[in-house]
Amino acid sequence: MEESSVLRRANCRAKGGAPGFKVAILGAAGGIGQPLAMLMKMNPLVSVLHLYDVVNAHGVTADISHMDTGAVVRGFLGQPQLESALTGMDLVIIPAGVPRKPGMTRDDLFNINAGIVRTLCEGIAKCCPNAIVNLISNPVNSTVPIAAEVFKKAGTYEPKRLLGVTTLDVVRANTFVAEVLGLDPREVDVPVVGGHSGVTILPLLSQVKPPCSFTPEETEYLTNRIQNGGTEVVEAKAGAGSATLSMAYAAVKFADACLRGLRGDAGVVECTFVASQVTELPFFATKVRLGRSGAEEIYQLGPLNEYERVGLEKAKEELAGSITKGVSFIRK
Ligand code: NAI
Repeated sequence: MEESSVLRRANCRAKGGAPGFKVAILGAAGGIGQPLAMLMKMNPLVSVLHLYDVVNAHGVTADISHMDTGAVVRGFLGQPQLESALTGMDLVIIPAGVPRKPGMTRDDLFNINAGIVRTLCEGIAKCCPNAIVNLISNPVNSTVPIAAEVFKKAGTYEPKRLLGVTTLDVVRANTFVAEVLGLDPREVDVPVVGGHSGVTILPLLSQVKPPCSFTPEETEYLTNRIQNGGTEVVEAKAGAGSATLSMAYAAVKFADACLRGLRGDAGVVECTFVASQVTELPFFATKVRLGRSGAEEIYQLGPLNEYERVGLEKAKEELAGSITKGVSFIRK
């Protein structure tokens, strides 16, 4: 059969209202993007999957498109195809940009990634202003404020729809706490609040489910390990990048929660870095309830112990600077 007729049928299937959502991944050929694309192709809530990158988008698309799952996959290469990649999307996931190398902080990535996020968000404002945005590109503490400013300028900003992905911090916290408690990580729920970098990653160990208690040594060990989990991977990879596989897993966990929210499922709760009034800062990560319009309810921090109150002050101080840096990148 001619290839064009195969594509026509796939397009018909996509247009014919196959149940599900339209999802774009920007940076789909990268270390996170590739396994993320694979896992989203396996997600039954996805009917159309657009894979965009400035390199190798068609190679990754050809590969992923051979998987016999429901989603129709299309590839888009380079800036001239950005608008086609974004038009009609319900959810846009952004893992585009450079990752850390040993010795770098997430903030060292600002100069390159800030410009990439600005360009991609200008495209979203133009082509799918109502999409939920899951922002993975670092430094998340600054890229989310950058995206917000781009959307404000375009007149499309809806704070509930712009979500910084901090799920990997929660995934790590669940894993490390489960190790200490001798439990299966699937049974553990650790709220991680604040932001996504160093001391701004604040695990609330006093609120772990199932209820448990930790010695001061365990609290110190777990907090440090959760805050430096990313650096642990950067050092182990020794120059070959940062977390990609666990990040793709975490990104899919969060994206799936967003899609279930969009579908109208009740009780979908995840941590995310979002516009917030929980503290005096304009953005803060906490648990939120996801629904048809994004983060529909933002939960308060709940009772903190003294260790967490001290951690919160440190987190807020660093976050304030990162947020201002992002905002002034667009306003300057
Ligand atoms: P990578 O370098 O393997 O992949 C990045 C991809 O982005 C590449 O394929 C590249 O071609 C693409 N790209 C570059 N400029 C682009 C543009 N203008 N438009 C579209 N695509 C573009 O990097 P990796 O490991 O996938 O990491 C991506 C980002 O995710 C980094 O900023 C990293 O720091 C961040 N990250 C965030 C985490 C989180 O928890 N939020 C965890 C781990 C990484």
